[in-house]
Amino acid sequence: MTLHDPALAGAPATHGAAEWWRDAVVYQVYPRSFADSNGDGMGDLPGITERLPHLRDLGVDAIWLSPFYTSPQKDGGYDVADYTDVDPRFGSLADADALIARAHELGLRVIVDIVPNHSSDQHELFRRAIEGGPDAPERDLYVFAEGRGENGEEPPNNWTSIFHGPAWTRITEADGTPGPWYLHIFDTSQPDWNWEHPAVHELFQDVLRFWLDRGADGFRVDVAHGMVKPEGLPDAKVNAEGLIDIPEGEVPVYFDNDGVLEIYREWRPILDSYEGDRMMVLEAWIPEHRLPLYIGPEEAHQSFNFGFLQARWGVETMRAAIEKPLALADAVGAPTTWVLSNHDVIRHASRYGFPPEHRFGEGLSREEIPDAELGLMRARAATLLMLSLPGSAYLYQGEELGLPEVADIPDELREDPSHKRAGVPGRDGCRVPLPWEGDAPAFGFSPTGESWLPQPAVFGELAVDRQLGVEGSTLEMYRRALHLRRELGLGRPDAPVEFLEGQADGLLGLTRGEVVILVNTSEQTLPLPEGLEDAELLVASGPVEPGTVPADGALWLRRA
Ligand code: NOJ
Repeated sequence: MTLHDPALAGAPATHGAAEWWRDAVVYQVYPRSFADSNGDGMGDLPGITERLPHLRDLGVDAIWLSPFYTSPQKDGGYDVADYTDVDPRFGSLADADALIARAHELGLRVIVDIVPNHSSDQHELFRRAIEGGPDAPERDLYVFAEGRGENGEEPPNNWTSIFHGPAWTRITEADGTPGPWYLHIFDTSQPDWNWEHPAVHELFQDVLRFWLDRGADGFRVDVAHGMVKPEGLPDAKVNAEGLIDIPEGEVPVYFDNDGVLEIYREWRPILDSYEGDRMMVLEAWIPEHRLPLYIGPEEAHQSFNFGFLQARWGVETMRAAIEKPLALADAVGAPTTWVLSNHDVIRHASRYGFPPEHRFGEGLSREEIPDAELGLMRARAATLLMLSLPGSAYLYQGEELGLPEVADIPDELREDPSHKRAGVPGRDGCRVPLPWEGDAPAFGFSPTGESWLPQPAVFGELAVDRQLGVEGSTLEMYRRALHLRRELGLGRPDAPVEFLEGQADGLLGLTRGEVVILVNTSEQTLPLPEGLEDAELLVASGPVEPGTVPADGALWLRRA
């Protein structure tokens, strides 16, 4: 095996190209935790702008910014009080403009988050709905309903919130009398919009135009399967224990209703009317067979494919998690997406430390991370597998450093609403501020050493400056793989994915043209498959003995 040295320079190949999103690598920035420029311990837009060269050098094509809009921050900004302004904690509209301009200068596209299922309870329209009394016209903009029971003292139906507890909260009118209930599929501070009302449609069309005018290249649509509720707000089915029953492969009654598709058909022409390829990617947790309805030339461009993230470590499970979405992508005529981590799930460097029978979505603990070393090895291998596949890939900030989930955040510092509502640990462990410099206060996150969540000591060892230029570091593996992916066009569909059959137990192999990708899911080093002994080693997830595939590791080879 010989070692390939990719050129680590040049503008993104996709920049300026038509339909750039089809094979883009998009890096998710969680603004609170990326970089803090003013020292208040909370990341901000100028902090992101300063650090954009890191992302250009990493080799990504675009960034997706989680919400930075005016918000009381009850759900990390997914509770929006003003969709067309910047929260003062994060900066100003001028800072947003500067960020977009700088990103474009560096050849990076910018995707912003849009949150159309709900607003904050501090949104002016919701405040008017409450303060204006029973006849306030703004009540029609949200989902208000009379309660059941003799005096309306019971919620209008049995729906529960994704953050635990009832999905309804009863208001008290100004004169002290109990009023109707409002729907919040998430926190009480996140009332659901009423998408039956034309004014809500107009409001969001204006929001899209607002950000498109400012140069946004696309939108990540939050709870993209949620906005339209079933007629009559029927009860959800419950099981014998009285709990809402959601059979495998189905979604709660308030998600995935056909009316949602109309919204995308309304939005698509708006995006298409702008120069450049403006796109939308949906956060839609829907059954697979429904995906073709959401994606298409008149609907959305793409949707997150969470199956790969949920797949257990192993040949059959991972292979299935690749084959299924590829087949679906063919059916919808749009490439699939790949994602291993985001701000909602346990970081994959920790997830893979659990025994393979555990998987995300089935009660993984966020408080006890079993085997950090194994987790990171497998995570790096899974990343190499993901980056070898056609379609677009979404990375989450800090995964390029191999950051683990932080398990030991003191309860009183946790901010996730699900922690506050139900006492579960919640998602803060994957949102801890990034380490940039191992020896600086707050590891370079903030000039004062402040950090809205405490960073563990291991973050110092994993800081960007400790990994940059260090052979074998996670950061260098990402840089190498991303540059190779671009150079070899692996994101494009030209070379089909062909699995290697009849391999050793635990070995997953596939080819993309002249490139061979091998993942050893077993705990033993395995010999290279026949015929690959002279292949060129392009990148490896860890140290490699010549002629072998390391245990819990992955390789990209080029056939001799
Ligand atoms: C999905 C977002 O990714 C998550 O962080 C948020 O809590 C919910 N949607 C509600 O907006």
